[in-house]
Amino acid sequence: MLELRPITDGIGTEVRGIDVTQDISDKDFDRIYEAWIDTTILLFRDQRMTPAQHVAFTRRFGEVYAYTRSQFNQDDHPEILVLSNIVKDGKPIGSPYSGRVWHSDGAYLERPPVGSMLYAREVPPVGGDTSFSNQFGAYAALPERVKERIADLQVVISRVRSRPYNYPDRPAPTAKERAEWVDVSHPMVKVHEVSGRKALNVGGNVPWEIVGMPQEESTPLITFLQEFAVLPRFTYRHRWRAGDIILWDNRSAMHRASPYDETRTRRLMHRTTISGARVERPAA
Ligand code: SIN
Repeated sequence: MLELRPITDGIGTEVRGIDVTQDISDKDFDRIYEAWIDTTILLFRDQRMTPAQHVAFTRRFGEVYAYTRSQFNQDDHPEILVLSNIVKDGKPIGSPYSGRVWHSDGAYLERPPVGSMLYAREVPPVGGDTSFSNQFGAYAALPERVKERIADLQVVISRVRSRPYNYPDRPAPTAKERAEWVDVSHPMVKVHEVSGRKALNVGGNVPWEIVGMPQEESTPLITFLQEFAVLPRFTYRHRWRAGDIILWDNRSAMHRASPYDETRTRRLMHRTTISGARVERPAA
């Protein structure tokens, strides 16, 4: 029987009593969907999914994005991005180093993805955890005068300038990438399209700017908010077991991967990305 349990007081729901590869009734699915929207991450333990089942389960939450240009797609399943340090026949099978700073996926895009589902297939005995931070919680806890100050601000996000923070192991953007990757701006306070709740949108560890504000004023404000956004009370650090699935709502959560011993241990994660999801709440 479906059971929903809070992971911590500040973030997340553990979903128990279901096998994600089996039919899930609309009634149960609606409860799961609501918990995703309201608590920003869902954890499913002890699951076994093939890549096709992973894509099918993700599809219940929304439209699945296929990485047409990534070299790290799962063979035959371009919807699955492989994150791994494993090398096969002299070639890495996945992206060996990603997401080590606090971030939401594709924040630098005009339309960032709405969520991602990460499935642990093989995990190292130590390290390789993923942390999540609830940006509804962070916004709600801000002092009123700060909420007033940031209410109408827009942040400028540069994919080019974010690159060395997000992927320090990758080469600097090429001239072609620089030309294609135009800066975008987004509200610093995002209103969630399903719940209408407000979430802080300040990124983490990457020097964002504020539209129309001089740098000497914008840097301290952004730095304060980035530190506030990931205070321990809003966060949860997940110690993976093989068979775990975490689905995060990219509109209200930031996440960050932790290092592990890549020379002596293996980590293999499969990730799907949701580009758009239904905006209406399930009928009561
Ligand atoms: C990611 O940022 O999508 C990857 C997180 C992880 O590998 O733990």
